[in-house]
Amino acid sequence: MSIPFLDLAPAYRELKAEIDAAVARVLESGWFILGPEVEAFEAEWAGYCGADHAVGVANGLDALVLALRALDIGSGDEVIVPSNTYIATWLAVSAVGAVPVPVEPDPATHNIDPSRIAGAVTPRTRAILPVHLYGQPADLDPILALARARGLAVIEDAAQAHGARYKGRRIGAHGDIACWSFYPGKNLGALGDGGAVTTNRADLADRVRVLRNYGSRAKYVHEVQGANSRLDPLQAAVLRVKLARLDDWNARRREIAAAYGAALAESGLILPAVPDWAEPVWHLHVIRSDAREALQKRLSEAGIGTLIHYPIPPHMQAAYAGLGLAPEALPLARQLAGEVLSLPIGPHLAVEAVAEVARAIGTA
Ligand SMILES: Cc1ncc(COP(=O)(O)O)c(C=O)c1O
Repeated sequence: MSIPFLDLAPAYRELKAEIDAAVARVLESGWFILGPEVEAFEAEWAGYCGADHAVGVANGLDALVLALRALDIGSGDEVIVPSNTYIATWLAVSAVGAVPVPVEPDPATHNIDPSRIAGAVTPRTRAILPVHLYGQPADLDPILALARARGLAVIEDAAQAHGARYKGRRIGAHGDIACWSFYPGKNLGALGDGGAVTTNRADLADRVRVLRNYGSRAKYVHEVQGANSRLDPLQAAVLRVKLARLDDWNARRREIAAAYGAALAESGLILPAVPDWAEPVWHLHVIRSDAREALQKRLSEAGIGTLIHYPIPPHMQAAYAGLGLAPEALPLARQLAGEVLSLPIGPHLAVEAVAEVARAIGTA
C-alpha cells in the first residue's frame, strides 16, 4: 500500500460535475477579471468567516503585503512575527520595507508564545502578526489585549486555518485583518494561486480593494501606487464550489487526526497538543521526534509520504542573513525545525491509512 503525503486529484473527482459547470459558466460569461464571480465568492467567504468584508487577491503572500500596506506599515516600522512559521509571513513584512521581529513559539502548540511578545515591542513596533500554524489557532486574546494596550494592529496569517475556531468563533475577524491563501493544498484550495483578506474594518477592506487593482477605483484614475493582485474569477468560481464542502472536509481531517491520536498514543512521539479553547482544522498533522530523519526514511521505505514544515526556520535562511541572527538566537524555532514531521492527512485519505502509518512508525 502506497500512501502519498497528499493527493489533490480525488477532490476534483468528487466535485467534477460542479467544478466543470462553474468553470464553463465563467468561460461562457466572457468576464475574466474581477466581476460577479469574485464578488459572489467574497460575500460567501466573508459570511463563512463571520467577517463583514472579504477582498479576493492573487495569493496569500499578497494578502499579507496588502494588509500591511492598508495599515500604512513600511520603512522604519517593526512587525512582530513568529520565529516558527513559513517564510511568507516574514517576506510580507520585508516586502513593505518594515523589519520582522521574531518571537519564539510555545513548543506545545508551535504557535507564537503570547507571553514573550511584550518583551519584543519597541517604539517602532506597529503590528503583531500571529500565524495559525498547521490549522491550530494562535492564542489570540492575550495578543489582542497587548495590542490594544500598546496601540498596535493585529494582522492574522490565516493561510493554514480555513474554518478553525478560537473560543468558538471562526478565524477571520478577531484581529484587524486576516490573510488567507487558497494555494491548492490548503483546506480551501483553488486550482492555482488565490488569496483574500477578511476584516470587520470597512476602511481596511476599501484600501485593500483599491491596492489590489492598480490603486484604482475608477478606470485609469489611480489614487495610490497599487499592485495587480486580483483573485481570478475562474478560481473564485471553483472556490465557491469547494467552500460548500469545507466543513465536511474539515470534519474528515478531524477524524483522521483523532485516529492518529489513538494509534500513536504509545509511540513515544510528541503528538500535537490542542488547547481547550482551540478547534483546529488540521491543515497539517505534525508530530515531533528526536530521531526524525530515521523515522522519515522508515516511512518512505514503507511507501508513506511525509514532509517537513519547515526544515529551515526563516532566521537561518540565506534570505535573512542580513538580519544577522545566529542559528542559536532562536533556539526553539531551530529545535522544532529539527524534530517536526508532517504525516499524511487530507479529506480523501482513507482512515485505514492511519493504521498503516502507525504500523510503519512502530513504537519509538
Ligand atoms: C503560513 C503561511 N503564510 C503565507 C502563505 C503564503 O500563501 P501563498 O502561497 O498563497 O502566497 C502560506 C502558504 O503558502 C503559509 O503557509
